[in-house]
Amino acid sequence: MSSKRYTLAQWLQQAEAGFREHAQWRIPGVADQSPRREAQWLLAAALSQTQAWLMTWPERELTEAQLIRAEDWLARRLQGEPLALLRGEHEFWSLPLTVTADTLIPRADTERVVEVALGCLAQSDLSAPDILDLGTGSGAIALALAHSLPQAHLVAVDRSAPALAVAEANGRDLGLSVQWILSDWFSALGTMRFHLIVSNPPYLAEDDLHLLHLQHEPRSALVAESNGMADLWQLVTMAPAHLQDHGWLLLEHGATQAEAVREALQQRGFEQVQSWQDLAGQDRVSGGQWCVSAESTLADR
Ligand SMILES: C[S@@+](CC[C@H](N)C(=O)[O-])C[C@H]1O[C@@H](n2cnc3c(N)ncnc32)[C@H](O)[C@@H]1O
Repeated sequence: MSSKRYTLAQWLQQAEAGFREHAQWRIPGVADQSPRREAQWLLAAALSQTQAWLMTWPERELTEAQLIRAEDWLARRLQGEPLALLRGEHEFWSLPLTVTADTLIPRADTERVVEVALGCLAQSDLSAPDILDLGTGSGAIALALAHSLPQAHLVAVDRSAPALAVAEANGRDLGLSVQWILSDWFSALGTMRFHLIVSNPPYLAEDDLHLLHLQHEPRSALVAESNGMADLWQLVTMAPAHLQDHGWLLLEHGATQAEAVREALQQRGFEQVQSWQDLAGQDRVSGGQWCVSAESTLADR
């Protein structure tokens, strides 16, 4: 598109045609991606308006500044850049979070981790639990838990300083209290112990085909060695040293990794080992409870 003037309806029509022609923005296997809807989402976001507003004023002309922004976003979106990165914001657990190229865009699936965490904590009568979010990225899980449990003491770590800065700013903007720590997993946590440790660690294999469509998010947030299992195994091994008696470890993982994670938890000596399903019925969160008797039994072996 050029410096010509466009009404909203005209711009949408041309953008829709662009989406129809380009394949890069499509995610294979996702059925409900429609060029028309993409064009509407993009323009509404670029103008900071609702889609209803676009539909109400089809004959309104875009200003020059609006046109420049909409065209920039369209070009980037057609190359596969997620809308959340164009907007610089994404909603998680109904909280608006800033996201950048340094953070993973929090996925709706990860809200299941938050639900499971709240369920596990509800079984105990702790009024102010100590909770750790490992690999916090934008701060999504930690902030959702801090929002839901105002009495809890939240600690969140990431080894990416730029990601941690985004998480910290999100906490400040939302007025939620979390202790942010730059750390390679548990390395900077000393002897801290928690009633709940939760993590959505990198779990994709290096050759996972999904990576072709995730090029705008940090690889270090997505990929783990040993066919995607290395970080999951490391967290299962190290977590007991940082769990209170009867504390829970909850891990998000890929749909094919549940059995391996449960096996690792059982071998490490966790109790109540189980998996929880996402909305599609797939096992996407696994965890277990660490009981001190298990620790002493293992030490005796
Ligand atoms: C899959 S992302 C999850 C981000 C966020 N928790 C979410 O659910 O949206 C994994 C995060 O773990 C962090 N990470 C990877 N390896 C790490 C390590 N060794 N120590 C601490 N954080 C790590 C990455 O920087 C990234 O932010």
